[in-house]
Amino acid sequence: METAKKQCVLVTGGAGFIGSHTLVELIEAGFDVVAVDNFSNSDDTCLKGVEAITGKKIPFEEVDCCDYQAMENVFKHYEFDSVIHFAAFKAVGESVEMPLKYYRNNIASFLNILELMQKYNRSNIVFSSSATVYGESEVLPVTEETPRLPATSSYGNTKQICEDILRDAVASSKLKGIALRYFNPIGAHPSALIGELPRGVPNNLVPFITQTASGIRECLSVFGNDYPTPDGSCIRDYIDVVDLAKAHVSAIARMIEGKNKQNYEIFNVGTGKGTSVLELVEMFQRVNNLKLNYKIAPRRQGDVMSIYADTTLANTELGWKAQRSLEDTLASAWKWEQYIRSKE
Ligand code: WQD
Repeated sequence: METAKKQCVLVTGGAGFIGSHTLVELIEAGFDVVAVDNFSNSDDTCLKGVEAITGKKIPFEEVDCCDYQAMENVFKHYEFDSVIHFAAFKAVGESVEMPLKYYRNNIASFLNILELMQKYNRSNIVFSSSATVYGESEVLPVTEETPRLPATSSYGNTKQICEDILRDAVASSKLKGIALRYFNPIGAHPSALIGELPRGVPNNLVPFITQTASGIRECLSVFGNDYPTPDGSCIRDYIDVVDLAKAHVSAIARMIEGKNKQNYEIFNVGTGKGTSVLELVEMFQRVNNLKLNYKIAPRRQGDVMSIYADTTLANTELGWKAQRSLEDTLASAWKWEQYIRSKE
């Protein structure tokens, strides 16, 4: 990655869960970084954590990507050639209740970034997409060629629309783009200095598990044990957040080094392995040597039964593969939860 070194990357949503982990991996791979975030769903906890882990001061601007003028100032001020765009709203349920909030935020911010990249001749962009674009696929595992199905939430639709915007922007300019379709990101940095910080009641499984284990939530509800899966609960592909962060470094390096085969590419980022909710709950208890209070509850509306990735393309083209075991990932999630509670 010699040519990639000393290149600067703008990370939007850098104070968030995946953004903060990606800052660490970029710095450790030799990149300079600049981060922006509007703290709409975060605070400076993880930015401070990134600085503690890397020993580097992170150039940071508190900016909303929807604010074109403020973003333009960032483009004028910093000499990055690549952007990783994490900044977005991501609560699936809320997006169904407040679709316009999601469309305005997730799409307007991305348009600003792409327009400014073209205006200021910046070259490479990685976009945070999601496995949600596959919907309930009949064929598993899903490959990047598996047809996208109509989104079941406005959140999911913003991911599909932004993928299409990126495809068209790349086709009509010198821009190179990679969309990474994340499966279920979980876990925390091994230092436990950065991790997921959901506000209010968590929607996602692992933060709900760790908060139940720490006594903040009384009981985990397992949403459905009557699916036609081996143990009746839903199956997902849980990807460690540090592994996921590394996929972004590989994607940026691929474009900088000109190794991309097309100017717009898509990669699944998962482990390739499906794990059921009940398996995950059992593993969390075993690995962390604790007992979790949980009950079986009705199915959650909108959940797909089963989804996991075919990761061949990322393995062969990006030279990236998930490394960390699910056990270690679940241990890191618990270590982070305990660290955060100890600070309260
Ligand atoms: C996982 C499994 C639940 C909570 C969503 C988005 C996706 C991505 C990640 C990002 C499911 C079950 C959950 C609980 C449970 N986007 N569950 N009890 O729904 O696969 O993916 O988050 O930000 O785009 O769609 O993730 O963690 O909510 O659920 O039983 O309290 O855990 O039913 O089977 P999901 P999840």
